[in-house]
Amino acid sequence: MSAAAKENTVPIILVAAVAENGVIGRDNGLPWRLKSDMQYFRAVTMGKPLVMGRKTFESIGKPLKGRSNIVVTRDRAFARAGVIVAHDLVRALEAARGDALRRGADAIAVIGGTELFERTMPLARRMALTWVHAEPEGNAYFPKIDPQVWCEVERHSPPKGADDDYGITYVTYERAGAA
Ligand SMILES: NC(=O)c1ccc[n+]([C@@H]2O[C@H](COP(=O)([O-])OP(=O)(O)OC[C@H]3O[C@@H](n4cnc5c(N)ncnc54)[C@H](OP(=O)(O)O)[C@@H]3O)[C@@H](O)[C@H]2O)c1
Repeated sequence: MSAAAKENTVPIILVAAVAENGVIGRDNGLPWRLKSDMQYFRAVTMGKPLVMGRKTFESIGKPLKGRSNIVVTRDRAFARAGVIVAHDLVRALEAARGDALRRGADAIAVIGGTELFERTMPLARRMALTWVHAEPEGNAYFPKIDPQVWCEVERHSPPKGADDDYGITYVTYERAGAA
């Protein structure tokens, strides 16, 4: 039995690519092309249930393979093949937790956008952020990170790939005092 199943809880991880000015999105898309980060995102989230807002799902365009896709929307008519729909965040996290316990996943990944990051940051155990070394214009933002709450535990700057618009640094944060 996994540690999460024994504890009867599943940690929440926030996964995001964030520009130096806090921007995460522009006009329902990403303001950059970063192949290295897409590969990193895949590795970090693989096997974990994903919780995302409806606009983030639409911007991705299809369910991500190898992961349960839980989409939060207030639209009672919303339905898409391969997607679990939740009409509020509490139900989305319940569905994600059940899915993680059934599949032996070690965490729930919240992947955006702004409102979901804001609402789940107080609940999260860890954040896997990709800092994008740019200040693009945008209209979706990551919430402020309180340094009293979040400790940096890992940092890695990969070489800039040919298909990366900007340099990036992967930084993992853990909630202060989290076991
Ligand atoms: N850089 C990154 O890591 C990253 C990650 C994710 C997204 N993005 C970008 O961010 C943008 C999208 O993010 P966004 O913040 O605009 O939108 P979003 O959070 O993806 O979606 C917002 C929608 O989610 C639903 N929703 C949110 N909170 C809810 C709640 N508590 N209860 C029920 N439904 C809820 C609502 O859907 P309905 O309107 O259907 O009711 C709301 O309009 C895009 O540009 C995307 O590319 C970037």
